[in-house]
Parts: sequence; structure tokens; C-alpha cells
Amino acid sequence: MIKTGNMKRYLMWFANENIEFRFPEIQSILSLLNIEMKFIQKPDVTEPYWIVQFNSEEDVQQVANRSVSLKLCLELWADSVTIEDLHSQLKQYPKQFYERYFSPDETFKIELETFCRHLTQEEKVRKIEEFHYLPVQGSVKLKDPHVCLQYIEYYGTDPNKPPLHPYCVFFGRWVSNGLRQLIRTFSLKSRKFIGNTSMDPQLALLMANQAKIAKGDIILDPFVGSGSLLVAAAQFGGYVLGTDIDYLMLHAKTRPSRKKQKVREKDESIKANMQQYKLSARYIDVLVNDFSISFWRENLKLDAIITDPPYGIREATERVGTEKKDFTVSEMHLMTHIPSKIAYGISSIYKDLLVFSSKHLKLGGRLVCWFPIFREDYREEGLPSHPCLKLIANSEQILSKLTSRRMLTFEKMEEPPENQQEIKFNGILDFREKYFEAREETRSEKRTREAKLRNQNKIEYLKRK
Ligand SMILES: C[S@@+](CC[C@H](N)C(=O)[O-])C[C@H]1O[C@@H](n2cnc3c(N)ncnc32)[C@H](O)[C@@H]1O
Repeated sequence: MIKTGNMKRYLMWFANENIEFRFPEIQSILSLLNIEMKFIQKPDVTEPYWIVQFNSEEDVQQVANRSVSLKLCLELWADSVTIEDLHSQLKQYPKQFYERYFSPDETFKIELETFCRHLTQEEKVRKIEEFHYLPVQGSVKLKDPHVCLQYIEYYGTDPNKPPLHPYCVFFGRWVSNGLRQLIRTFSLKSRKFIGNTSMDPQLALLMANQAKIAKGDIILDPFVGSGSLLVAAAQFGGYVLGTDIDYLMLHAKTRPSRKKQKVREKDESIKANMQQYKLSARYIDVLVNDFSISFWRENLKLDAIITDPPYGIREATERVGTEKKDFTVSEMHLMTHIPSKIAYGISSIYKDLLVFSSKHLKLGGRLVCWFPIFREDYREEGLPSHPCLKLIANSEQILSKLTSRRMLTFEKMEEPPENQQEIKFNGILDFREKYFEAREETRSEKRTREAKLRNQNKIEYLKRK
């Protein structure tokens, strides 16, 4: 039952996707906003809800106003494994408890959500009418009532095999929704400028939360591409800038990424995306730069770095350079010289990224980046690491049967020494090389299987003859 003391019980109801990102996201938001939250019940990672305590309703609202994992939050009045017990808990509250919420001039509504089970409208109405004993006094209003009461029946997470009775039921007063509507607002489908590797808006927002971006922060994405991460960072009040080696990408001159689009529109750009979302005031600029040759002044300090470095699968992993020995460009050709590029291996990219972050993040600033892996090779000790950066969170997004990528969050704990120590990678395989090897393998396997099948068919055919 609800506590009448200072700390009330709340039900946090999450979207049933990107489950691994939920906990680090809420932890980062709590730490950013300096809000205390206690678990009343140990959360089960497979279930979409937490039962927690907060010091105030404002705290709950502040957390919900930042979270993209959270669907909604209720002040929890009753929860049980049976419907009968839930009703009897609600009937036990004293009159004074309900008087706080129900008055003749306050409108209300009761909403029902059945998680993983479909009910007809008739069944829903019947279930809602079972709450007839609640001493509500005002009239029903379906849109924006003063008080919204929420009843949730939880039937597990498999919609194909829901049990007859719910596993548990919850009832409470709606307090706040999470930020999930932003996922639709930032949808890539309606975004002015996108590229082949534009980041999914939900993941971009999760990264911005992991980076603990606050109003007025300065944020850099050194592998900016089409700038999806800048959109999310600016949404949370960051002033954003980015760099990318690809001139054509930054000038929106690459081949259009939308199937039906033949040529890019003239005004496509990262800046135009910022205008589309009314975030232009937070846009600093983007510059063409090879990350391996940092052009920033030594004392640049950033609040956060969020980035998705290239994996070399859908975009090149290159840096400016040449294999030729003692190569120089003559004064005469300098103005028109287009530098050649050489491979920029994944371990070098991450080594540069960690060294750069250790130097250019403020103390306590965060680096949030993706790291591609072969699932069978995964070992935490094999992740990139740096003595001045502490790994705060590490969540997996599965990409295929063999591969996934991990969203890594590092926090800068101390300034690096002048002479940076060697960064250890513990021999992690180059993702790109192995990716193409594995693809080769499956292709050749497929060829062998098809050849075998053809042979078998031939034998069958000959036998029948
Ligand atoms: C995975 S994409 C980033 C996509 C971006 N997050 C977005 O939402 O569009 C990686 C980017 O790194 C860039 N890149 C590759 N090598 C680079 C280098 N040496 N320096 C800077 N950028 C580089 C690529 O041009 C590509 O745009």
C-alpha cells in the first residue's frame, strides 16, 4: 500500500525494447539531476516495470521528463498478484486519503492497460466498472482530466502465449509520461538530411542521457556523419559541434540514402536538421577533419563527447596518409593537392578516441561511444580502456546472430600525464576484417550446401530413372 510518510511508492513502466539501456539511462539521469531513488522491489531485467521510492513527485516528473526508456510513471496505490487482492487493498484506504484527490469540481478518468493481452472494448469497460467503490465525486473527462487513474494488468512479455490470469496487477494515479514522443518527432523518416548510418533517434537520445548533457554544455561528435547525435544533444540543451573526414557527407553531396530519392535537395544539411527541430540556437558548426590529426588547441575542454565511430562496413575507416616513404608535396602543388588516404584500423580509432577524450573532457565529463564486436569474442577485458577514464556503463545492441555493438559510457576521473600511457586492447580482433571473413565463410558455406543439394537431387533423379 502507499506510504503516507515522505517517500512514496511509484511504479515506473518502461517500453519493452532496448531493455539493457534502461538501468544505465535512469542511473545517469538521477546522477545528473542529483535525485535519490530507492528500489522497493529488486527489478527483474525481463519485466517492464520497477517499484521504487522517490522523495517527491517533482523528482519523479523531472526524471520522466528526461527518460526515453520510460513510458509512464504512477503513484502506486495498490499492487498484487490477484485482482481480488488489489481491490481489497484499495477498499482499505481511509476516506481522507481519497479526499486529497477526488473533489466534486475535479474531473477524472480510469485507464486500463493490459500488457501482452488483447481485450475487447466490452471486457475493458467491465473491468473498469469494477472500481465503482472508489469515492470519486467529479465528472468523467477522457481528455486531460484533473486526475488520471491507471489500472495495469501484466500478462508477461510473450504476446503469443498470454496466461489466462495476469501475473500481477497495479493501480495508481498517473504522474507523468516519459519522453517517448520525441522518438517520433526525430524520426529519420521525416528528417530533412540523413545518411546511410544515421543513428536511430531512440539510441541517440539514450546516448545523450548517458552523457549527462545539461543546458549550456559543449558537446563534440568527432565522427559526426549526418549529425543525428548532435540533434539529441541539442535537445537536452547542449551546444553542439562535429567533425567528419567526409567532405561530401558534411556538404550533403553523397548519394541520397532514401530509396525513392534520386538527387539530394539543395538545402539538405545538418544545419537544416537543426532548423527543422527548432534547435538552431544550439548549433555551433561542423568541420571537415581527419580525427587522427587533431586540430583542436591543447586547452580545449568539452563537457561530453558522443560518437559512433566507423566500423568500416557501411562507411570507410580511413585517415589521411600514404604508404609511400618520405613523401612530400611540392610548394607548387600544395594548393591543389588532395591528400591520399590509408586504412584507419578500429583499434587505432578507439585508441585515438580515448586519448583525445582523456585530454579534452572536463573532469567528470563523459565519452559515450559505440563499439562493434563479434559476440563470441566478447570479453569485458577486451574493451578499449584508458587509465583516466572509468567505464560506467556497457549495454549491448544485437545486430545479427554473430555481431552486436556495445554502447560504452566512460567518465573522466583524472587528468592524464603529459606522456600518455599505452592503451591496452588485449588483442581484440579487427571487427571489419572478421566481419568480411565471416561473410565469406557463410557465402562459401552456402555454395557448398547448394552444390551438395544439387548432387543429391541428381542422384535421386538417376535412381528414379
Ligand atoms: C557511423 S558513421 C557516423 C554516423 C553518425 N552518427 C550519423 O548519425 O549520421 C561514422 C562517420 O565517421 C566518418 N569517418 C571515418 N573516418 C574518419 C576519420 N578518420 N576522421 C573523421 N571522421 C571519419 C565517416 O565519414 C562517417 O561519417
